[in-house]
Amino acid sequence: MNNLVEVKDGELFYNGFSLKKLAIEYGTPLKITFLDIIKERITSLKEAFDKAIKELNYNGSFIYLNANKANYGLLELKEASYYSDGLETSSYYDLLLTRKLLENQKDRYIVSNGYKMDDYLDSIVDAFKAGFNIIDVIDSIDEYERLKEKNISLKVGLRVHLSAKYNEEGDILTDDRFGLTKDEIEYIKKDIKNTKLILEVIHFHQRGFDYEKEKFELNLKEAFNEYYVPLKKSIPSIKYFNIGGGTPLPTDYNFDYDDYAKYVITLLLNLSKEAGVATPSIISENGKYSQKDATINIYKVIAKKDTDKVYPWYIVDSSLLIALPEYYALGEAIVVKPINNLDGKFIKARLAGVTCDCDDVYYQKDLGYINLPEKHDDLYIACLGTGSYQNSMNGKGGVHHCLLPEEKDLVIKDSKIVVRSNLQTLEDILSKI
Ligand SMILES: Cc1ncc(COP(=O)(O)O)c(C=O)c1O
Repeated sequence: MNNLVEVKDGELFYNGFSLKKLAIEYGTPLKITFLDIIKERITSLKEAFDKAIKELNYNGSFIYLNANKANYGLLELKEASYYSDGLETSSYYDLLLTRKLLENQKDRYIVSNGYKMDDYLDSIVDAFKAGFNIIDVIDSIDEYERLKEKNISLKVGLRVHLSAKYNEEGDILTDDRFGLTKDEIEYIKKDIKNTKLILEVIHFHQRGFDYEKEKFELNLKEAFNEYYVPLKKSIPSIKYFNIGGGTPLPTDYNFDYDDYAKYVITLLLNLSKEAGVATPSIISENGKYSQKDATINIYKVIAKKDTDKVYPWYIVDSSLLIALPEYYALGEAIVVKPINNLDGKFIKARLAGVTCDCDDVYYQKDLGYINLPEKHDDLYIACLGTGSYQNSMNGKGGVHHCLLPEEKDLVIKDSKIVVRSNLQTLEDILSKI
């Protein structure tokens, strides 16, 4: 997997591009999406799994789905859809968009998650009737009852409710608000033979932001041993084990995807062998892994302000709350780095936006500062990994913090640069309020 970040001649490069050059040429505040990174992420994970499957003689395949919810940018979705085996949807509206994207590729997978209100469920039925390769992952018992009434041979999955997990000190490791309980699954296991529904998938998903091997393995083993195994033994149509999202990111750790794929495949091989069941094909629904690192934001430091002789404030030309909603709302790690003047002296400083909001600041919470170049004239700052969930949290094209405009938006593919949207205009902002 490529190393995206590089320092050359005192400057930061991302995916081979000089960020200073892009900032000067296009102006700031700036958002840049590198579509090639989405392609690379998808193809390399598929290759790692295909290789592990072959090497370990695993009977089953690896199916990569893009979890659309991570980024609804049309170009990002098209790129992800092109290289993936299918798309994962999480709402009625998402499914309508997905149908448009896959109109001429109806054999590709659509896996529908989330709570199903009637519009979503009806639309799943409609997509099935229109010939799409759609699997409805049932998340609640009332969904099952409503689906049964449709009297169709729709492929379905069961999302299992994962029990809360604790560490040795008794602290909670994971808790799950989704899925069907053991009793509900027991009921479906007996009842489904009286319906036309075809049960093909057992699904679990753990919240993805912070991949931890220990948690992942506990949850996988629970979903496999307690649900996949007994269900597979009585319902032979089951052929997929869906491990959801949460695939670890390479920029967070020096992660080896060949090892990761071998570890998952070996785990499933051993668990299947111990239980005496056939190995399943694996479905993986990747949101953050597909999208996060494909996008970065760039801001210019426009002033330095010293207050109280603590660490100085470097003021950037936007609101940091617009730049990093995922960081502020969910504590998601976003890497913030200076772009230029990297050869000179560094000082302890803090970043602040141009608004008068006291929360519009950024520094490493544990330290109380970040290290930034002392030379702050023409200094640019990059926020790396803003491609997942940020657009929807921000409401792309909408009204933002203190009415500040949304960044100019560039998309780069095969070194070709396209301006997707210019800095948001006052008319555009006012038309949304
Ligand atoms: C069912 C399901 N699958 C996949 C994902 C994507 O997770 P991630 O972005 O961590 O890959 C989510 C995220 O909420 C989800 O709920």
